Amino acid sequence: MSEGKLQLINEINRLRKERDAAIMAHFYTDGDIQDVADVVGDSLALAQKARTLPNKVIVLCGVHFMGETAKILCPDKTVLVPDMEAGCSLADSCPAEEFKAFVEAHPGHTVVSYVNTSAAVKALTDVVVTSSNAQKIVEALPEDTPIIFGPDRNLGNYINQTTGRKMLLWDGACHVHEQFSLSEILRLKKEHPEAKLLVHPECKQAVAMLADHVGSTAALLSYAAKSDAREFIVATESGILHKMRQQCPDKTFIPAPPEQAGCACNNCSYMKLNTLEKLRNCLRDLSPAIEVDPEVAARAIRPIERMLSYKF
Ligand code: 13P
Ligand code: SF4
Repeated sequence: MSEGKLQLINEINRLRKERDAAIMAHFYTDGDIQDVADVVGDSLALAQKARTLPNKVIVLCGVHFMGETAKILCPDKTVLVPDMEAGCSLADSCPAEEFKAFVEAHPGHTVVSYVNTSAAVKALTDVVVTSSNAQKIVEALPEDTPIIFGPDRNLGNYINQTTGRKMLLWDGACHVHEQFSLSEILRLKKEHPEAKLLVHPECKQAVAMLADHVGSTAALLSYAAKSDAREFIVATESGILHKMRQQCPDKTFIPAPPEQAGCACNNCSYMKLNTLEKLRNCLRDLSPAIEVDPEVAARAIRPIERMLSYKF
């Protein structure tokens, strides 16, 4: 480890004590960030754990909606993010005003929204879901309930297929997960016939149909750890490979290639805005901090609480 990096980590360790801060990181952040974090998890785990932490300050190394969810759940804590520009193309594909018009155009529907949304969209929602629990929560709704599902069309399609529901889908997507190339995955499968294909449900249907396992980042990690297979082709953001290789050092993880040869499209550019330096700075400056309009937060917390109340 370079001297500069060691010094940064020492400063982060000193500041987190001084500030009484817990560092939370999503599996898609860089390995360096995951390694200094107190909690590393998928979106569901980060939401669940945020409010159980005793600390006064939470630093959410992930993307903006994750910080917002933590702030809504823990209004009395200071919630910091290393970089306020760390957004999410999927959340951006669903502007609240347009989603409101869509909901109003389809009265009588239960609105199910993926956690990858702004607080303003959550405020228009009946129940929030993550990729870990979306299918189970939809299945728990009465069969004849008409449902609007937003914003990810791929996750929505996947749930429609697996549950037989006919949810109305918002036409949004993630720029990272839509990039995986079917032909390149087929080529890899030929080269590695024993490898299991692990796919996040934000990927296109054609890729999900080939999967040995479709699931959230945490579910893919746990499948890889439990499986007898030695090789895995992984169709989700590249950050997860760090944890997979740490947890299963004797197994081989092959990142699924994107459409455009040679591009780093399986990196979420927003997640990668989280760096050790920015983490140190936000602990030092207690900024940038997430704020949510109290009226929006009061409406957004209900569908988040509803999600957390399901015990599967
Ligand atoms: P998880 O629900 O697996 O954490 O996924 C969140 C996300 O942003 C996927 O792109
Ligand atoms: Fe958003 Fe996609 Fe990045 Fe996940 S990988 S945070 S859905 S842009």
